[in-house]
Amino acid sequence: MNFPQAVRLVEVGPRDGLQNESKPVPVDAKVALIDALSAAGHATVEAGSFVSPKWVPQMASTDEVMARIVRKPGVSYPVLVPNKQGMNGAVEAKCGEIAIFTAASEAFCRKNTNCSIDESFERFAPVMEAAQKHGMKVRGYVSTVLACTYDGKVAPAKVAEVSDRLFRMGCYEISLGDTIGVGTPGESVAMIDAVAEKVPREKIAAHFHDTYGQSLANILAVMERGIAVFDTAVAGLGGCPYAKGASGNVGTEDVIYLMNGLGIRHGVDLDAIAAAGREICMALGREPASKVAQALKAKQAA
Ligand code: HMG
Ligand code: MG
Repeated sequence: MNFPQAVRLVEVGPRDGLQNESKPVPVDAKVALIDALSAAGHATVEAGSFVSPKWVPQMASTDEVMARIVRKPGVSYPVLVPNKQGMNGAVEAKCGEIAIFTAASEAFCRKNTNCSIDESFERFAPVMEAAQKHGMKVRGYVSTVLACTYDGKVAPAKVAEVSDRLFRMGCYEISLGDTIGVGTPGESVAMIDAVAEKVPREKIAAHFHDTYGQSLANILAVMERGIAVFDTAVAGLGGCPYAKGASGNVGTEDVIYLMNGLGIRHGVDLDAIAAAGREICMALGREPASKVAQALKAKQAA
């Protein structure tokens, strides 16, 4: 097997993991989670979203969260920004990094952001301009890279086209999201290979949701194709409120366990992540979805 010596894990638990929660999660719990994740060794912790509070009420407290977290030197705390209004929030909150997001399927783009793919790029233009002015890094997300609840299978060529547009716009990295978690390794590799014709492999990240339990297999498959950045969520929390039936991201604990087994460096402490996961799951009143988190919890209780 041809794997990299090191990978970078992008922790999306505080954003992707919590955005779908129907009951408000207290700001104290969000701040404690983010601080625990950075203390555990993550270099990137996605902290929230400056989106409409009517669309995603759970992220309405992102300004307060950004004001209260401990900004650990060397750690980036990106926030999602869909338009100029969101960018104003990110600037006021003194964010050093933002993420813009669009999709490879028209129907999902509209459900998620109330606009077409082309219109989403029109909204990004002033956002990119402001990011340059304020010296912010910009990451780009493409959703529904394998399939869409509403439009069905998505062609790799379409994912490549949208990724190319984001990359040429100035995004330093393109995260490819299997939003509804239906992809399998063969499809994932075909999609990555198509995108890699337009975007260098070292600028591509994989963002797998685990609805069908294929995330770890998909990660292994695309890692063999030169991908070394993976989005993960502590405890396997999450899902997109505008993608019916989608479950959480691949669990950070599961990915760390996999990488540890392969001797691949990642810089994150498994026990510290598992403890952070138990803490937030207790606040949410649920069990972690991550298998490794469950196993560690059972071992601890024994
Ligand atoms: P819209 O209704 O078309 O926006 O929503 P609008 O410009 O017509 O404005 C309507 C109202 O929204 C106005 O307020 C604006 O002020 C307000 P009103 O006058 O009615 O009181 N508004 C905002 N408020 C706060 N922040 C803003 C903002 N913009 C407008 N930035 C919009 C368009 C994009 C805002 C909306 O559709 C939205 O917020 N969508 C967010 C969707 C979202 O966050 N989805 C989850 C994240 S994406 C994801 O999870 C996928 C990912 O994980 C990868 C993967 O798994 O595939 C990244
Ligand atoms: Mg996601």
